[in-house]
Amino acid sequence: MKFLLETYGCQMNRADADRIRTDLSNSGFTEIEKNEIPDIIILLSCSVRQHAVERLHGRLWSLANIKRIKPELKFVLVGCLAQEKKSDLFDKYPFLNLVIGTDQINLVADLIIRNYNGLYTVQHNENIPLNSFKLTRSDPFKADIPIMRGCNNFCTYCIVPYVRGRERSRCKEEIIKEIDNLPETTKEILLLGQNVNSYIFDNLSFSELLDLISKKYNNLRIRFLTSHPKDLDLKTIEVMASNDNICKHIHLPIQSASDRILELMNRKYTFSEFDKKVEQLKKFIPSISLSTDIIAGFPSETEEDFLKSLNSISHFGFCSAFTYKYSPRNGTKASEFINQIPEEIRKERLKRLIQEVEKEVILQTQKQIGKKSKVLLEGKSHYGNTCMGRDEANRVIHIKNVENLIGEVIEVKITSSSGWNLYGDLIPE
Ligand code: 5AD
Ligand code: SF4
Repeated sequence: MKFLLETYGCQMNRADADRIRTDLSNSGFTEIEKNEIPDIIILLSCSVRQHAVERLHGRLWSLANIKRIKPELKFVLVGCLAQEKKSDLFDKYPFLNLVIGTDQINLVADLIIRNYNGLYTVQHNENIPLNSFKLTRSDPFKADIPIMRGCNNFCTYCIVPYVRGRERSRCKEEIIKEIDNLPETTKEILLLGQNVNSYIFDNLSFSELLDLISKKYNNLRIRFLTSHPKDLDLKTIEVMASNDNICKHIHLPIQSASDRILELMNRKYTFSEFDKKVEQLKKFIPSISLSTDIIAGFPSETEEDFLKSLNSISHFGFCSAFTYKYSPRNGTKASEFINQIPEEIRKERLKRLIQEVEKEVILQTQKQIGKKSKVLLEGKSHYGNTCMGRDEANRVIHIKNVENLIGEVIEVKITSSSGWNLYGDLIPE
């Protein structure tokens, strides 16, 4: 039996996809090659923003055409949208065979093998049921390691706490076992969770876990995602500063720079508290780079509120920023706020955010020229006679004459930039 596995949305879905792929492969299924027709289609869905949902809807209908050629084709929808919409999905997509929620990633292969049909969602489990440790990973050099799931924060715009449930941290032994089982080619791990800073298992905090992992695996480069500005503590900053192998980069979503909007979003920090946290980061880690998420057009956002968000981009000098148009999600508090912003204004604000981010990213990229950088060399560049890799801030760097070093972390001197891309030369050891 051959399967097609497609992933929508966040990094957590990509990590879940690796687990499903592994379980299916271990049960004798194979992933299709290009142009092959699958026996099973599995889609990992996202419901965080309407855009992701629409992309998935379009894809579902186009894939449904395969069913005409191959009526026995099995359709499986997994993840956040499945958890949210449950059996309504069978009305909308009569060709679906199986709908599986967010906490049953371990069971996907089993349910397919048992030819289970219908809905399979359960209340979110207490512990994280992730039982495979040796995964077939899509990337030979980088591995995502889930350390916690779910979220307790209930930001008023966000559907995650509803579809992924409350925060549950994974025990240290499981995390270690998964890292121990990584292929030898692995050079970088990403500790993953909706709010990693609130990791807690048997009194072990996130900063302690991070310290332990970075010391135990000092040959690996370490990242973590996502941090919440209210929960990022001084201890974590100190651990980042004192361990060379932790990337000097942090993704710290600001969402808005207006205190009024932050309050309405239930973010539990003010602009000046965010600012102080960044100051603290810079004090302990002068080379830190910062990326963020910003939402445009949250209910009641005025032009003045929006300008604060827009100006924060150059104020903080973000090295990259994901910008989103506010998208009302059913069941969230903000979707019921009366003063929703018209689509046209949200769109226009998003456009301005994107332009500002582009300007700032290019500026920050140019500032790298002349600096030394540690780059994980991932492969050949798409064009030109160079290889590409990523620095600690995840910036793309192209380097000549290093084919024999693909899969290694190398030291590079940055020589030039073009847009978001950097070019550099290998610094011989
Ligand atoms: N509308 C727009 N953006 C959203 N995000 C989450 N929910 C929404 C929403 N309803 C964004 C936030 C979050 C990122 C993963 O997605 O910026 O940090
Ligand atoms: Fe959503 Fe807020 Fe939790 Fe992030 S912290 S997942 S934005 S509720």
